[in-house]
Amino acid sequence: MSAITVEGSQQFTGRLRVPGDKSISHRALMMAALAHRPSAIRGLSDGEDVAHTRRAVEALGAQVKVHSAEDVTVTGGLLGATGPIYLGNSGTGIRLLAGLTAGFDFTTTLDGDTSIRRRPMDRIIEPLSAMGASVRGSGDSGSLAPLIVEGRPLKGIEYTLPVASAQVKSAVLLAALQAEGPTTVHEPAITRTHTEEMLADAGVRVEQQGRSTTVWPGEVEALDIDVAGDPSQAAFWLVGACVAPESDLTVENVYLGPARGGFVDVLGRMGADISVDSESGDIRARTSKLRATRVTSQELPGCIDEVPILAVAAAVAEGVTVFEGIAELRVKESDRVAAIVEMLDVLGAESEIDGEVLAVGGVERLNGGTVDSHGDHRMAMAAAIAGAAGSSSMTVEGFEAVATSYPGFARDLSDSTGWTP
Ligand code: S3P
Repeated sequence: MSAITVEGSQQFTGRLRVPGDKSISHRALMMAALAHRPSAIRGLSDGEDVAHTRRAVEALGAQVKVHSAEDVTVTGGLLGATGPIYLGNSGTGIRLLAGLTAGFDFTTTLDGDTSIRRRPMDRIIEPLSAMGASVRGSGDSGSLAPLIVEGRPLKGIEYTLPVASAQVKSAVLLAALQAEGPTTVHEPAITRTHTEEMLADAGVRVEQQGRSTTVWPGEVEALDIDVAGDPSQAAFWLVGACVAPESDLTVENVYLGPARGGFVDVLGRMGADISVDSESGDIRARTSKLRATRVTSQELPGCIDEVPILAVAAAVAEGVTVFEGIAELRVKESDRVAAIVEMLDVLGAESEIDGEVLAVGGVERLNGGTVDSHGDHRMAMAAAIAGAAGSSSMTVEGFEAVATSYPGFARDLSDSTGWTP
């Protein structure tokens, strides 16, 4: 395990670009793997999660020309893999690939690291089985990875998601491409819409009505896509600029589509000096006096991955910030509820859990100390930003987890603050 120590009292300044959006990157590779003509994908996330998906589609039979980590050409056509497919730390990778492969005439074994092997897979096994798929999990419950997906003829279903999850919605909608008849998914709250939008762009018939999405089976056309910057990564720098002294930072070319910019609204309500240029996708934030807010369970899916860094903002806001409907955070790359509480404790901010509600009391200035990432990339980055903005140095143990989604994070931290690793 590697640790870094970040000096406190840094200012966040300048302009930077974050890796391509991770959710879009996974989907672009998977859809390109279905298309028979070559797809050009530029601006892919350079993190390990997306590299695993790239190798997965290759193992399944797609031809991938890697021009650079961010720039690939994929010629699709799935034949089936000869061995198990390893998706590392990636929930999106394993769940979406289970849906993608469920209707093909071959068997696929999907596996990942120890974190993936702990995360719930019954949420995809249930709807995919209702479509006629054969997805067998492991463990006593039969609902953990590794998953064995034996291809079967599928039928379209109408399915109401028990939890607001774009991964589950997407697994079902990707399976729907091979099914007989249309498939409709109803969501309890709006989640990211990449799958349905990208399928529609690729010529698939998709209908959207409120929180319901219907997909008809069909061919996926080749893609030609520039992946915009990942808002979930941008959030780290923007919160850093809000909470650190004398800061003024712009993240360029950020994806601004639905259900991803919730953190900007939350920060806006907290009184942050943050502005979005809807033409360029640039987002600028400056040092701000923050006040507490309430993040409702309806809006949480729109900022689900940003809760660790929003908790850092809450830790310096005046008053008590409340995050409602946090249950899903317990089944992310780590138990993020526990990890956030542990981080806030080190930072000197008080927090309390009451059922599905996390309350965070703000303090004047954040303490330094030592925070364990628990192998979770977003916890590692949130702690590093809190450390740079805080009053003294912060050691982040397990910092190498950032490679999951943002291998260049330490370089960008150094470029935007002047801190030297
Ligand atoms: C993702 C959906 C979210 C999110 C994850 C990426 C996606 O997970 O936390 O980082 O790309 O669909 P859930 O759908 O499980 O909430």
